[in-house]
Amino acid sequence: MSKVAIITGGGSGLGQSTALRLAEEGVRIAVVDIDEEGGNETVDRVKNLGVDAIFVKADVSKSDEVKKYVDQTVEAFGSIDYFFNNAGISGSGANFLDTDINEIEKIVGINLLGALYGVRYVAEVMVKNGGGSIVNTSSSAGVIGQDTVVTYSATKHALVGLTKSMVAEYAKDGLRVNAIAPGPTETPMVKTYFDANPKMKESAESGIPQKRLGTPEEVAELVTFLLTSSAQYINGEVIRIDGGFTNTK
Ligand SMILES: NC(=O)c1ccc[n+]([C@@H]2O[C@H](COP(=O)([O-])OP(=O)(O)OC[C@H]3O[C@@H](n4cnc5c(N)ncnc54)[C@H](O)[C@@H]3O)[C@@H](O)[C@H]2O)c1
Repeated sequence: MSKVAIITGGGSGLGQSTALRLAEEGVRIAVVDIDEEGGNETVDRVKNLGVDAIFVKADVSKSDEVKKYVDQTVEAFGSIDYFFNNAGISGSGANFLDTDINEIEKIVGINLLGALYGVRYVAEVMVKNGGGSIVNTSSSAGVIGQDTVVTYSATKHALVGLTKSMVAEYAKDGLRVNAIAPGPTETPMVKTYFDANPKMKESAESGIPQKRLGTPEEVAELVTFLLTSSAQYINGEVIRIDGGFTNTK
């Protein structure tokens, strides 16, 4: 039987491109997103590749909705082999001391609690079934400090701890857990920001040794490698995919 993946934030950007890339491998996909339109678009595109997919509308910051997307996936497909724990938001870009407490709570709720709840419920199914593979989406800001993204950076560093500690506890049960740390990548989120601030795009690109942003397809390729059996002995790693950006910091 073909493998099954859950992808959170699967309605856009890195989640959508990874859904399409995994579908090329015949992997059935549960697309989880708060955005119904984007989620359904991904499902349609996966189905057009001849692969089965479902959309589950869920807010990852709510534990009962996380349990719901896990239960619905098992109900639809019978198991969970791969989990791309990817939904996230970036924040307003304000300096930390000017940041509203509501914004801090929102970023922590989605990026950190959402990721913890996801691993909590998905890994439970995987361990019961003899194992599985998880990729958590950290960030460049999860491996170095950066200004104007203090809360975001704190949550993305936390995902590194989640990744390594899950391996310490559950590798013996057949779990592989890795993280990716992308630099600025041309997803809709980043594109909208740079279209409105072209100078910021130039300055971001000039700070990257390869002098360009990453593409969602490049990230999807890495995630597919890490999730599938190609990376059987890679566990607890944080793989940077940033054109050399954090290497020069
Ligand atoms: N694009 C980049 O440059 C970049 C760099 C490093 C890390 N990341 C991380 O990659 C991940 C994906 O980002 P992206 O660039 O593809 O952004 P994106 O905005 O294109 O996609 C994110 C998706 O997550 C969904 N989402 C947001 N809040 C949600 C919630 N509460 N519940 C369920 N779904 C929710 C959105 O609806 C959207 O479809 C994020 O965790 C982000 O922090 C992105």
